[in-house]
Amino acid sequence: MPPSQKGPVPLLGAGLQFELLSALDSKDFRVRKILVAARAAGIPVALKTCSAEAIGEQAPAAKALALRITRPTSAHPSYITQSNAIVRTLIDASETSGLYGDTEFARSQVDSWLELCWLELETPLAVLQQAKGHGDVIAEAKKLILHALTAVNAALAARTYLVGNRLTAADIALACAAQPILGAAASVLSGKDLATLPHAARWYMTVTHHAAFATGTSSSRGGGGGGGAAARAGVSAAALAAANSTVDAAFYQASAVHTDKPLSMVAPAKYRRRRVRVKELLARGAAAAGETVVVRGWLKTARSGAKDTLLFLVVNDGSCHSSLQVVASRDGTEGFAAAASCGGVGACVAVEGPIIESPAKGQVIEMQAKKVEVLGPVYQSDGSIGAADYPLAKKAHSLEYLRTHAHLRPRTMVYSAVMRVRNAMAYATHRFFNERGFVYVHTPLLTGADCEGAGEQFVVTTLLPAAAEGHACGGRVELPRLADGSIDYTKDFFSKRACLTVSGQLNVETYCSAMSDVYTFGPTFRAENSHTSRHLAEFWMIEPEIAFADLEDDMNLAEDYLKYLVAHALEHCDEDLTYFESKDCPGGEADLRARLRNVLENDFVRITYTRAVALLEEHIASGKVKFQNPVSWGVDLASEHERYITETVYKCPVVVTNYPKEIKAFYMKLDADGKTVSAMDILVPKIGEIIGGSQREESFDVLSQRAAAMGLEPAAISWYADLRRYGTMKHAGFGLGFERLILFITGIENIRDVIPFPRYPGHCEF
Ligand code: 4AD
Ligand code: MG
Repeated sequence: MPPSQKGPVPLLGAGLQFELLSALDSKDFRVRKILVAARAAGIPVALKTCSAEAIGEQAPAAKALALRITRPTSAHPSYITQSNAIVRTLIDASETSGLYGDTEFARSQVDSWLELCWLELETPLAVLQQAKGHGDVIAEAKKLILHALTAVNAALAARTYLVGNRLTAADIALACAAQPILGAAASVLSGKDLATLPHAARWYMTVTHHAAFATGTSSSRGGGGGGGAAARAGVSAAALAAANSTVDAAFYQASAVHTDKPLSMVAPAKYRRRRVRVKELLARGAAAAGETVVVRGWLKTARSGAKDTLLFLVVNDGSCHSSLQVVASRDGTEGFAAAASCGGVGACVAVEGPIIESPAKGQVIEMQAKKVEVLGPVYQSDGSIGAADYPLAKKAHSLEYLRTHAHLRPRTMVYSAVMRVRNAMAYATHRFFNERGFVYVHTPLLTGADCEGAGEQFVVTTLLPAAAEGHACGGRVELPRLADGSIDYTKDFFSKRACLTVSGQLNVETYCSAMSDVYTFGPTFRAENSHTSRHLAEFWMIEPEIAFADLEDDMNLAEDYLKYLVAHALEHCDEDLTYFESKDCPGGEADLRARLRNVLENDFVRITYTRAVALLEEHIASGKVKFQNPVSWGVDLASEHERYITETVYKCPVVVTNYPKEIKAFYMKLDADGKTVSAMDILVPKIGEIIGGSQREESFDVLSQRAAAMGLEPAAISWYADLRRYGTMKHAGFGLGFERLILFITGIENIRDVIPFPRYPGHCEF
């Protein structure tokens, strides 16, 4: 793939050509490290073998390796000469690889592993190549190597990768250097020493299975003539034995499926983004100074200064919370006059110019605009350009006010931050389940079944418009009726009564009964007339279903999942979480991240419904609390009860189990006592119920009896009951309300403010 066709490389510039000049053997670990990193980053690099002298003539700082970078705009190539610096340059040239970690902290971790790799693996390995016959030197080099791999081994005891949850440059560098030690033709360490490195051996197998390692390394993969799994994995027999000694159930759970392998056959990218995102620019900080870039976005503020000879524009493109400050001047900026009269806040602009270190407080860098193009001015109702009518012109607005402008609220700080967190949580959800080998099943939104049996469905019909059209003049709607006066749905679109789904669970269970671990993630609809800050008529739900699993497995998966989401938010949404903690955020929660960390660091409390009710009764009796809703065994817990248990009593997430069968759905497994079902609700501070789930009734007879007792038509659920007739199995699942999760992660108070277009009683605007 020629670099000019690759995706955008705005910070290093477009159209770069990379050539690796090497005086080393092509199988040398440094060469391999660079080529594997380049492949993983999707950056084409041509390998050119030359003499060390020839390289030195072009790049005096080089010994045996140099990366030559040629730019279309310059006749003079530049050179990078240290192997780790070369790796970093290539990764930086790739926008999307994430190989240097996703946060500043992760970058530092990658750097420290690279340093350890260089000092304690690559250097002693280079010494070993030269030290034939010098026993003491060889022994010292091997000691250093064992020391380095012992550190790697310890770091990997409970992890798949060295940094974060995906392959990084740290894994690539260390795995390439470790090849003579852990690879198929390993000879450096003794079998006894290798036996002490089981986690490193398992990691080496995982990492070297990445597609980036596949080409050009055939001699190390599957070589050795012995065949078999060890040789195929490119790992030495002794290392494989060591790895297998710890390949227990926990390992399979933690690292069973990897979804982030880079594609080996990806087509050359055609899409080129002709701008730098504000996020990318600000992440570079002062290092971006001196570059000339193009940024496009919407004005957050615009003010003039120095007697109208300067314009200070704050441009935001939604890529991150922060904006770019742009300074335009009457004398130095093309398009200054148009920019000065573009209508101000809300106008869409393209700005181009050099980045400088900001002389003012509040930002590290800013742009000195050479050119401002007003792409979309702000108009007033009389057609003139001006700020008078723009609904978000003022700085601070209440969330209630913003709800009435749901089409413009994505431009506000609070709302774009919520949307970035939503996106991160959706991504983390797919990542969590795919890493664990779950299959995403798309369940239907139109259904004839009422999963929860609560009668809160929206009916979907074409009878009304058809009838209304037929009676357009009279205005009366004549519905087809049966003899008893009820609506004749056989005349409707589906020849039966159909509704919007309240849950994908029943459908996803059918796939669980064939594909074992599945999940669905989609919108669900409930016509409950709840005017609370926790209910929507349209909300999104994630529903995993696990085969061969009971209630305890279900609780464990739910706790892992919720903690994974929290960890993902803390690691990837730090800037937005910091904003949600600030006074600038309407209703900001000062200790938001401490609350989230608390969830991550502690086991969830697990109590039965019976215990929860007893506890509430004790607290009421001792005068500790008063509730509006009465509590006794058999009632459904109200939100005030749930929040008291999680916020006041335990101050952490609480899983309440084994509810009375009368208040739960027909599909939940009946407990041995005949009174309760194997259900669980997870209650969290600030929200109350965030997850509801259960083990499913696997007996055909019991399921049929429970359905009949709850007044369900046997014909309506016959397909669902069939699963119990044909190969039934123990299984369980749960549903996480996605918007309640976003409330939990952001600290926002009202569920109507965490979904792009909220639907609730009386409101279906936009
Ligand atoms: O407890 P629920 O009703 O469970 C089910 O729908 C099951 N079929 C799930 C399963 O076992 N697969 O709903 C699950 C979650 C609740 O815990 C809550 O977080 C959320 O969905 N939820 C709502 N969120 C917003 N608005 C509403 N009206 C909601 N109703 C439920
Ligand atoms: Mg529930």
